[in-house]
Amino acid sequence: MTGCGGAGGWRRRADVVIVGTGVAGLAAALAAHRRGLRVVLLSKAAETATFYAQGGIAVVLPDVLRDGGDSVDAHVADTLAAGAGLCDPAAVRSIVADGFDAVTELVAAGARFDESEPGRWALTREGGHSRRRIIHAGGDATGAEVQKALDLAAASLDIRRNHVALDLILDGGAIAGVTVLSDDGVGAVYAPSVILATGGLGHLYSATTNPDGSTGDGVALAIWAGLPVGDLEFIQFHPTMLYAGAGIGRRPLITEALRGEGAKLVDRQGRSVTDGVHPMGDLAPRDVVAAAIEARLSETGDECVYLDARGIADFPTRFPTVTASCLEAGIDPVRQPIPVVPGAHYSCGGVVTDVDGRTGISGLFAAGEVARTGMHGANRLASNSLLEGLVVGRRAGTAAAEHATVAGPTRIVDPGPQVRPALPRAELQAAMTRYASVVRTADGLHRIRDLVGTAPVRNLRNRNDFEDAALTAVASAVADAALARTETRGCHHRSDHPLTDPAQAVSIASGLAPATVGC
Ligand code: SIN
Repeated sequence: MTGCGGAGGWRRRADVVIVGTGVAGLAAALAAHRRGLRVVLLSKAAETATFYAQGGIAVVLPDVLRDGGDSVDAHVADTLAAGAGLCDPAAVRSIVADGFDAVTELVAAGARFDESEPGRWALTREGGHSRRRIIHAGGDATGAEVQKALDLAAASLDIRRNHVALDLILDGGAIAGVTVLSDDGVGAVYAPSVILATGGLGHLYSATTNPDGSTGDGVALAIWAGLPVGDLEFIQFHPTMLYAGAGIGRRPLITEALRGEGAKLVDRQGRSVTDGVHPMGDLAPRDVVAAAIEARLSETGDECVYLDARGIADFPTRFPTVTASCLEAGIDPVRQPIPVVPGAHYSCGGVVTDVDGRTGISGLFAAGEVARTGMHGANRLASNSLLEGLVVGRRAGTAAAEHATVAGPTRIVDPGPQVRPALPRAELQAAMTRYASVVRTADGLHRIRDLVGTAPVRNLRNRNDFEDAALTAVASAVADAALARTETRGCHHRSDHPLTDPAQAVSIASGLAPATVGC
C-alpha cells in the first residue's frame, strides 16, 4: 500500500482493496495478486466464519461423475429445490460447474481433504442433497483447513489487521476507495477496485453460530452507498446449534453431517421431530427441519430438542470439533443425545451481484456470504457456501484486477463524516430474536421497524459504534424485506401468511425491479 499524505486523516493507495479475510476475500486477493496488482486486505477481526465451517464443500468430483454417481445437473437440481423457487438457475449452474476447478486450486494451495481410501476423497451428505457429494477435512473442521491453506498462500500479501471499513468512497458514481478506522484513527485507502467480502450478519440475533465480526458490515456499506440489496428476508437458521441454556453470542454448531451419518432428531420423549414432515426426514432442507423443530418446541413447551448421534461409529475421530464443543458444555455425545435449537447461521441474501461479483457501482464487487448472486434463493443448500466463496471470490478478484488496470488510479476524494443511527446492540438483538427469527408476523416486524426508527445518531468512534450502526441499518432492511414478503417460502416463515404464494416467486431487492434482480 502506498502512502499519499495530506490533511484529514491518513491516506493510502492500492489497486484493489478487499474488505474481509475469509474464503471469498482471500480467494479474491490471490487472484488479483496473481495479476501483479497492489492488493490490500482489511481485516476487522481475528476470526472468520470460514474458520468455523464444519460440514464441508459440496462439489461434483470428476471420478464420481464418471461412475455416474453424481452430476452437475443433480447438484443444480438439489440447489434449486432447496432454494424454493428463488434461485437464479443460470447463476447456480455457473457456480456449481466451476466447483471442482476452484477446489483443485485450493488443494494446490495446500488444503488436504479426508480420504475414504488413498487417492479418493471421502464424501458425506447433508440436508437437501440427494447424494453424497460433500468433501470435508479434519472430520468436521473443513473451514479451519480451508482458512489455514488460504492464510498460508496469502501470507506475503498486505493484510491490515484491526482495520474497520467504515464507509465506501464514491467519485462520480464509481468507487474510489474505503474510509477506514485503524489504530492510527480514521483514514482512507483509495483504489479503483474494492471487493466486499465481509461475511454474514448472524449477530443481528442474541445467539448465532457466527463469529463476533458477523455484523452485516458489507450489506450496511452497500445500503449507505445506495446499492441494491436483495433476499434479505431469507436468514437461514441452522437446525442444530448447541443448546446450553440461554447462551448468547457465538454458540457451537453441531454439523448437519451428523444427520448425514445417521444421527436422529428427537424430542424429550424420544419422538422423531421430522417424521411425516418431508420425504427426506431429518435430511430435509434446513428451512424445513428448523421449522419442524420450532413447531415441536412450541407444541411441547420444551427449550430444546435432541440430536441422538450415539449410533455413529468412531464419533470423536470423525467429529472432533463437535466432540470438543459438547464436552466443554458437559455433554458426552457418545453416550448422551446432544441438546440443540435452531440458530441464526447464514444470510441467503445480500448485496446484489452477478456471478463475477460485480455490483451496480463501477469498480465495486462483493463475494461470499455478503453477496446475493442468485445461488441460494430462499434457502441455501448445505455446504454450498464455501463453494460459492471460493468460486465467486476468485472470479471477483480477477474482475477487480481487470477493472483496476483499465480504470487506473482514482482521485483523492475526502471521506464524509462518520455519523449513523445506531441502537444499543443487546436491545436490537432481543427484538430481532423475538420478532424476526424462524417464524415472523407483520406485528412483530413492525415493532422492529418502530424500534429502528428510535435509533439515536452516533459518531462512529470505534469498531463497536460502527457495528451497532451496521446492525441497525441491516435490521431495518431485513424487517422491510420480511414485511414485503407476505407468504411463507424457504427460510422466511410468516405465521400470518403460512402458505407459499406462487405470485411471489421473485426476489425483492431494494432499488431494483424484480425482473432485473438476476443480473
Ligand atoms: C454444517 O456443517 O452443518 C454447516 C454447513 C453449512 O452451513 O453449509
